[in-house]
Amino acid sequence: MEKKFLSKSTVGLVKGLVVRAVEELTGLRDENISVIPFSKSGEFDYQSVFAPKIYPQLEKKDPEFKVKFPTQESLVEAIQKRISEDKKLIQSTKVIDKVFLLILVGDEYLEEQMNGLLKNGAEVERDENPQHIVVDFSSPNIAKEMHVGHLRSTILGESICRVLEAKGHKVKRMNHLGDWGTQFGMLIAHMQDSFPEYLTTMPNLKDLETFYKQSKKRFDEDAAFKERAQKLVVKLQSGDEDCLKAWRILCDVSRSFFNLIYKRLDITVEEFGESFYNPMIPGVLDILKEKNLTTMDKGALCMFIPKKKLPLMVVKSDGGYNYDTTDMAAAWYRLTQLKADRVIILTDVGQYPHFELIFEGAKLAGWHVPPKTRMDHMGFGLVTGADGQKIKTRSGETAKLMDLIDEATDRARKELQSREEAEQEAEEKKNEEKKPEEAEDGQAKKKEFDAQKKTQLSEEEFGKAAEVLGVAAIKYFDMRQNRIQNYKFDYDQMLSQKGDTAVYLMYAFIRLSSILRKGGVSEEELRATPFKFTHPQERVIARHLVRFNEVIEMIVDQLTLNKLCEYLYALSCKIAESYGQYKILKNDDTVQRLKLILISRDMMATCFNLLNIKTIDRI
Ligand code: ARG
Repeated sequence: MEKKFLSKSTVGLVKGLVVRAVEELTGLRDENISVIPFSKSGEFDYQSVFAPKIYPQLEKKDPEFKVKFPTQESLVEAIQKRISEDKKLIQSTKVIDKVFLLILVGDEYLEEQMNGLLKNGAEVERDENPQHIVVDFSSPNIAKEMHVGHLRSTILGESICRVLEAKGHKVKRMNHLGDWGTQFGMLIAHMQDSFPEYLTTMPNLKDLETFYKQSKKRFDEDAAFKERAQKLVVKLQSGDEDCLKAWRILCDVSRSFFNLIYKRLDITVEEFGESFYNPMIPGVLDILKEKNLTTMDKGALCMFIPKKKLPLMVVKSDGGYNYDTTDMAAAWYRLTQLKADRVIILTDVGQYPHFELIFEGAKLAGWHVPPKTRMDHMGFGLVTGADGQKIKTRSGETAKLMDLIDEATDRARKELQSREEAEQEAEEKKNEEKKPEEAEDGQAKKKEFDAQKKTQLSEEEFGKAAEVLGVAAIKYFDMRQNRIQNYKFDYDQMLSQKGDTAVYLMYAFIRLSSILRKGGVSEEELRATPFKFTHPQERVIARHLVRFNEVIEMIVDQLTLNKLCEYLYALSCKIAESYGQYKILKNDDTVQRLKLILISRDMMATCFNLLNIKTIDRI
């Protein structure tokens, strides 16, 4: 019977083969046998080490065992022999240092995989057991502008949703907006004083932020104002119509701004703000009390978690609710009402201790029962300016999200322009170097070239390309980081043509499209006949291509989108290497080589799509 790890990914197949061989030769079925990529040289694809773990077990269990396999090495060699019988999957094997089994997968197998990719395109292999997964991401706060922390949550959240959806999971994308709580009391109180027309005239977001700052100041300094604000919160929470109206206006203004950002970044997320959970809170508190999980502590209702110093405070001493309360209610709703199998929450790493308590609290309440359910905090580091300080605009203010995107787009436009100029210069130089009679022809060609250029990219298209590239640069630069680490928001680095950047990758992608156009063989034709290797570098590329689903599986487990960036970048580097090693166009093997270009382009497109990066087909 096929067990769950025997997935169709290459590593899954190889692992399956080793596990079965071990079982057949020793009677032991160990599904945790490790098979991992062998990175040292191009000579082998995978390595497996199992004897040090299982040999002692087997030796203990059966006295005869040592007669059959006197040493660990002899066991590994027997396994080596057995797996080598699968001539298609296994090309060659080698045992080094007595226990390391190295494996090279077969060319025939790789060709077959390439043919699958050629026929069906580069697709994520679906999980046979699709899950319900809640992803809580973006989650900015009303009346405050989104900042770069929310940018990270938004970018990473969208992409992880795409990966999970491609895997076949049912994903609920939840925007946990900060739309409830004490800030609204002071905002409404302050609006009553300084923007009394608020119920008929919409304030804009700039005003709103000023309100926020001013009202916070008054709240901190003026006791009477503070009291009024607190009363208004109670009024709002008990459903006072006027307060609710003001609250809705505040939310609408912020929401329309958030939506501009989402549109620009191509984000899809559903609003389930803190206010959504408010009506559930009394019931959830009752459940916690019934289960004897709460204690009164200095007037506050708390939930103490074993081995944790700080408790969750579910009701404040003034009777109000807070961040802990809402997140407990959210955990209850997601796990028991939506029946989510997995919940993933994205915030900066600073909030990790909070979620650790929430996850433990949900366990104590019996809603979260691992391994049946899983709760992950997908934390990320802080973003600073290139100088390590808070990101500033050119005029020295703290940078707003929209400014960051605008500037990246601006710079992308310059990058595209300079590339175009460089190309033109190269073309002119070519013409100058030509003999006089050819030069005339060259001039004519240049005119033709210029004319073609104009028809290729209009001013509008140029603007669009700059937007695509600018946004791609920001997203890719964020996702390629190890997410836990802080990083510096550095335009020069993210828009560099060289190295691991969206710009480099985009040009690499455009080059593939251009080769396919020049190749002159239609896509259908390329897809219609089988692929065969014609050069060793093609095998290097193919081997990387077949690893795609292993990488996706790892990302689903560890929420490490940087691994997809690494995969994509390594793919384009391997293709770039091939350009120096063999000719693709005007060659006996052109059709075969174009096939690999097509597969690679499909794969790059799939990766871009998962990373929520739009592509440009030509510049
Ligand atoms: N609004 C919060 C913030 O800006 C993030 C909310 C994250 N999600 C949650 N369920 N607490 O920090």
